[in-house]
Amino acid sequence: DGDVYKYYSEGEWKVSNSGKTVSIINPTTRKTQYKVQACTQEEVNSVMECSKKAQKSWAKTPLWKRAELLHKAAAILKEHKNPISECLVKEIAKPAKDAITEVVRSGDLVSYCAEEGVRILGEGKFLLSDSFPGNERTKYCLTSKIPVGVVLAIPPFNYPVNLAVSKIAPALIAGNSLVLKPPTQGAVAALHMVHCFHLAGFPKGLISCVTGKGSEIGDFLTMHPAVNCISFTGGDTGITISKKASMIPLQMELGGKDACIILEDADLDLAASNIVKGGFSGQRCTAVKVVLVMESVADELVKKVNEKIAKLTVGPPEDDCDITPVVTESSANFIEGLVTDAKQKGAMFCQVYKREGNLIWPLLLDNVRPDMRIAWEEPFGPVLPVIRISSVEEGIHHCNASNFGLQGCVFTRDINKAILISDAMEAGTVQINSAPARGPDHFPFQGLKDSGIGSQGITNSISMMTKIKSTVINLP
Ligand code: G3P
Repeated sequence: DGDVYKYYSEGEWKVSNSGKTVSIINPTTRKTQYKVQACTQEEVNSVMECSKKAQKSWAKTPLWKRAELLHKAAAILKEHKNPISECLVKEIAKPAKDAITEVVRSGDLVSYCAEEGVRILGEGKFLLSDSFPGNERTKYCLTSKIPVGVVLAIPPFNYPVNLAVSKIAPALIAGNSLVLKPPTQGAVAALHMVHCFHLAGFPKGLISCVTGKGSEIGDFLTMHPAVNCISFTGGDTGITISKKASMIPLQMELGGKDACIILEDADLDLAASNIVKGGFSGQRCTAVKVVLVMESVADELVKKVNEKIAKLTVGPPEDDCDITPVVTESSANFIEGLVTDAKQKGAMFCQVYKREGNLIWPLLLDNVRPDMRIAWEEPFGPVLPVIRISSVEEGIHHCNASNFGLQGCVFTRDINKAILISDAMEAGTVQINSAPARGPDHFPFQGLKDSGIGSQGITNSISMMTKIKSTVINLP
């Protein structure tokens, strides 16, 4: 009936006093795979107390020592890639090879973060007063970056390890303590990742991991007075958190409806393989979510995409299939709702719509029009709408009319046009001749509009988790 896992507080693994657990349902078998502790608000309070205390001495730990521990954690994480990826397969149905990639990428991210932190936190600024009108050269200003305090990290189910360490490592290198609230699906993979930090020997209380029901501890965590910064990746909940949180720095990466604009002069083979790679590679906020193709090349593009879709394998994550079950039954129902709506309004299905449990076969929907929900909403599954456009302006207009603005991409051989389109697209990043993607993980990553606030990427995350402190020497 599922192994039960403990939560992590004060450097120890603990059972919650609630006596309750939360079940993690395997998306493939739809049976309980694991159980995690349903922590109480009192337990959150004591985690926060410890976290505050641990941060004070951690901030005084030399930067090189903090980096050394992070490098150690990165190596341990990579050593544990097999058991962690096994959890990812069972909890979120991530294809086995992608699960391994997630863990290895996470180890690399932690190491890079340690190196980047040493560089950017190891230097401050020195300013002189006489550059500002009316001042003599009598004030010397020394600035450096100091930690914010306790960072709360809330990663999503689709990258429970990678999007946790992308918050943990910047927080720690900058001298903060870290409280992690993993997603329910993916919580055990996250706990195992935390165990790697435990083995690396971080001080007690510096990292904590509380599991439980959002309804019980969600608001309590995000509105907790001890929290000095929140880094969240997920859906609409992020908007609610932003409204409720106090005056603290927030980093939010929410949904996306990443558009892929295909011009007449595009390399259609390149575009087709990126559409399939970007649109059918799992539940990713950076997936290609709408194709906007010039009418004159639409038939040829759709044909090429369909040929590639036909080669995708569909089935369980253990078999490394390209298309695996979506995370929950309600997610599958949501996707089905979008598909049914599009069908009723006249979209052309390029494949037969098929679903078994949480497993949905890949589907390209051609001739999608703006009155269909799928033209605007984010399915988070293997169904992709194609909208045929008669001008580039029409494509840009559709992209910018979205409430999302995470990434976008454009396929053309004309670099001048590509740059102009990139400038016109209201998205945090525009990829020229490639599908949207967050990585490499040191690139800035940000969403406009409802896709989020703040910018991620290793350097930006470290900076966001610090404040500037100045000391001014006043000469007589
Ligand atoms: O969905 C989360 C987002 O961060 C995507 O990352 O690496 O799949 O582009 P990636």
